[in-house]
Amino acid sequence: MSKTFYITTPIYYPSAKFHIGSAYTTCLCDSVTRYKKLKGYDTRFLTGTDEHGQKIEEAAKANGKTPQEHVDYIAGLAQDLWKQLEIQNDDFIRTTQKRHEDVVEEIFEQLLANDDIYLGEYTGNYCVSCESYFTPTQLVDGDKCPDCGQPTTVLKEETYFLRLSKYADRLLEFIDQNPNFIFPETRKNEVVSFIKSGLLDLSVSRTAFSWGVKVRSNPKHVVYVWIDALSNYITALGYGSKDDSLYQKYWVNGNEVVHVVGKDILRFHAIYWPIMLLALNIPITFRLYVHGWYLMKDGKMSKSKGNVIYPEQLVERYGLDAFRYYIVREIQYGNDGVFTPEDYIKRINTDLVNDYGNLVSRTISMVNKYFGGKVQKTKHDHSLIQFEQELGQVAKVAVQDYQTLMDEFKLGDALKALSILVGRTNKLIDDTSPWDLAKQEETKTALESVMYHLLESIRIITVLYQPFLMETCPKVYGYLNVDEEFQGFESLVFGSKESYEVVKKAAHLFPRLDEEQESEIIRSWMLDTSLKEPEIEPILPEITIDDFSKIDIRAGKVLEAAYHPNADKLLVMKVDTGDKVRNIVSGIAKFYQPDDMVGKTVLIIANLKPVKLRGELSEGMILAAENEEGELHVIEGANALNPGSKIS
Ligand code: MSP
Repeated sequence: MSKTFYITTPIYYPSAKFHIGSAYTTCLCDSVTRYKKLKGYDTRFLTGTDEHGQKIEEAAKANGKTPQEHVDYIAGLAQDLWKQLEIQNDDFIRTTQKRHEDVVEEIFEQLLANDDIYLGEYTGNYCVSCESYFTPTQLVDGDKCPDCGQPTTVLKEETYFLRLSKYADRLLEFIDQNPNFIFPETRKNEVVSFIKSGLLDLSVSRTAFSWGVKVRSNPKHVVYVWIDALSNYITALGYGSKDDSLYQKYWVNGNEVVHVVGKDILRFHAIYWPIMLLALNIPITFRLYVHGWYLMKDGKMSKSKGNVIYPEQLVERYGLDAFRYYIVREIQYGNDGVFTPEDYIKRINTDLVNDYGNLVSRTISMVNKYFGGKVQKTKHDHSLIQFEQELGQVAKVAVQDYQTLMDEFKLGDALKALSILVGRTNKLIDDTSPWDLAKQEETKTALESVMYHLLESIRIITVLYQPFLMETCPKVYGYLNVDEEFQGFESLVFGSKESYEVVKKAAHLFPRLDEEQESEIIRSWMLDTSLKEPEIEPILPEITIDDFSKIDIRAGKVLEAAYHPNADKLLVMKVDTGDKVRNIVSGIAKFYQPDDMVGKTVLIIANLKPVKLRGELSEGMILAAENEEGELHVIEGANALNPGSKIS
């Protein structure tokens, strides 16, 4: 049976559109999952959104929405983004889902029943934005939050506390006995000294707002966001539900469980979460991988500084693979990384255009030129054989190093190890000068062998690139005619494929980018603070089916159409609605010419009181909607209906 591997991202706050920082964690987890799949693991990958709390309640209010409308909208955007980035998550948990809320309610009651949670009172400086209390020594500039710099307010509230101190020794013991629990090591040291400095009991409920999971035995309290949020890792597996088979398989009896988290949420995952598990008698099976942040030259990304960069823009202009490659290549293990437009373009040009892309296209064209596209593994005794042997050796080392580094989550370093192989393969061309070998018949076998070595090396590189370059690798397999048998990790032995037949001509995998011009374009996106987040209008108050039945919507066929004589924006149409032919005026002239409309079957509100629009009678309204670009689209898809068919 295959080994299991369960990996999670943090669940993201749905407070705004996601920038490249949140995409980093998710892409990292996705690449690791793809790698583990290639290694034969039975994987499960979870991501989601953390949808409760005062911050969300307030953001929704500011947008004129209910909290649920607000989180539905942003969770939708998040899922669209993950689709665009080809993230292969198996599940998407939202903390407002019933499957999660029910279990959180139960977890809270269980902790109460065991006296791990007790009711008390808390007074302190509270930051609404970070949803945290701070002690006077932690505050900056008097009353400002040390994390976000916003003023805090003094709050006094009745609250439930989780007894952290009770478990401090057991946790220290656990960390000591499990040296791989937190990595990198420096983060572990931070955690140990924090615990040793003394743990204060943690406030785990709030009464000041209501957008959260209600405490069942005392519903004026809602569960404070961290107990709610952290539980997602097991509620998504069905813990505490009727069917907990995934929980048993991946968590309790699983082989590897990894939570990937940013450095800012280390304490919550390394202290509060294991203590919750200890208190609930749930095995601590997870390890933590703690990563750094993507920063900009002038510090954190922030809209007001005008330095935010969104993944969509980079993907649309430079392609998915370039983005997915850059995002995990640029940050070094555990450290912060700085995004600059120049580095982005340089990285693509160097690693993907020059080194890999060029290698593939040069090799394919030489194999065609010298051997009509077909080469075989051959033996020869030309002195150049030493270069081939060296390449085989470098490939062996790269395959090893890459896997060791991937297993340690050092994705950037694994890609660097792979770059060494790409470089060495390009060097084989320089070392052996195939164009000279092609001049004499005696060196034909040696030339074929060089070509074979290039192709075999490209194949191995491509197998290893699969977790990162999801669009390119299948293309390269196509160019080289590599079937599935030689795409897996078991085929990573140099020389395992005996022959190649390549395509006649391969398109360039990555177009070369003009560094100056493209950097300028990216910079202009960053400065574009007007970049509006797409908004949906708030849903109107609920109506009943009786209210709806008062609106009579019919299919209508447009028989004639003309511009309104006195208004640019209006078309005047004759529409057959079954009962009669109506005169209908509609404000769609900017988007539809009269001829576009004739013959269309559209949807009409047929019992709207007739009105005169600029002197023309309108006996109904055509249904249409505006998209994000402000273009109006008439609702179509009713061609199969006869004029007069009623829409219900
Ligand atoms: N909701 C909590 C997590 C609960 S997990 C049980 C939260 N959400 S968050 O949206 O603020 O952050 C989610 C993750 O994104 C964190 O790991 C955070 O470190 C990461 N990042 C946010 N900005 C980032 C960068 N600029 N760079 C890299 N990661 C960044 O915290």
